[in-house]
Amino acid sequence: MNNTIEIQITKTASSKLPQTDFDNLTFGHALSDHLFVADYFQGEWHNPRIEPYAPLSLNPANATLHYGQSVFEGLKAYKNEAGEVLVFRPDANFRRLNESAKRMCIPEVPEELFMDGLAKLLELDREWVPSKPGCSLYIRPFVFATDDFLGIRPSQKYKFMILTSPVGQYYAKPVAVKVETHFSRAIEGGTGYAKAAGNYAGSLYPAMCAQKEGYDQLLWTDGKTHQHIEESGTMNVMFVINGTLITAPTTTGTILKGITRDSVLTLAKEMDMPVQERFLSVSELKEALENGTMQEAFGTGTAATIAHIRLIHIDGNDYSLPEKPRDAFSNRVLHKLDAIKYGKEKDPYGWVY
Ligand code: COI
Repeated sequence: MNNTIEIQITKTASSKLPQTDFDNLTFGHALSDHLFVADYFQGEWHNPRIEPYAPLSLNPANATLHYGQSVFEGLKAYKNEAGEVLVFRPDANFRRLNESAKRMCIPEVPEELFMDGLAKLLELDREWVPSKPGCSLYIRPFVFATDDFLGIRPSQKYKFMILTSPVGQYYAKPVAVKVETHFSRAIEGGTGYAKAAGNYAGSLYPAMCAQKEGYDQLLWTDGKTHQHIEESGTMNVMFVINGTLITAPTTTGTILKGITRDSVLTLAKEMDMPVQERFLSVSELKEALENGTMQEAFGTGTAATIAHIRLIHIDGNDYSLPEKPRDAFSNRVLHKLDAIKYGKEKDPYGWVY
């Protein structure tokens, strides 16, 4: 990544590095020293800069607080054995950010603002990229409305920011999920494919209800019939049934086009794993769990990476999945993906920057 835009840099006077426990990283708590920021007004992006991480001062009439005009992304940076910082598929995140932005009437972020801002931020905060296996620097680019106006309309002003956070695993152990057939996450024509803040807010209550019943996450079904599986709250979902990898297609506009999902599907082809991108009905899922043809179920996402599913609840019944052998597809693909991300294996796909 070579810088092509002028970025003003103000360094922090006191780094938080000494107070950060890199041996016990969880997800989303530690925040690195700097932020990338740019402002949009009068139809253009202005003043790209890097500042010390600090709270924002917001007008209580800020449009995002009231109407949720906000989109975000999630990607990760890793350190290889030589101590170089590697970023996984930032070009894909850049494109998806703008697809989400378009749906939410947010102006697109120019590629050089995203890529150069990210490169400069990582250069400055490279010490924040963990070197411990299994850890990474989670990168959160986001754009939000900054008009101070209570009328409902697309904001005329926005902020684009990138913050970073050194992280460990999102799910420390295999998860129990509940197939949700009452609440809906998305409907055709809605915003399901966008990484819009409101999609996550709307899923909190149903997920909280499932957590009270002892499940970690939901498996969302389609909003119209609740008869087929779409995705999980923080990740796409995949099943191995009778030796075939099955995952929902992203053509209905109701499912996030996961970058980990895409990477796993690409690697599956290389690994000669039969793949079906098709909807799996709840009854088919139930049948596969009952007749023993369900071999593996797992989520894929940037934060979650590959999250093994140990139990699926359908309509009053809990189904435990079989123990995964070491050579299970999800273990092998995770190993391959990590080898590429951490620069241990050649990257024939041009994924690593
Ligand atoms: C990610 O995987 O990057 C996500 O956005 C999930 C997030 C809600 C933790």
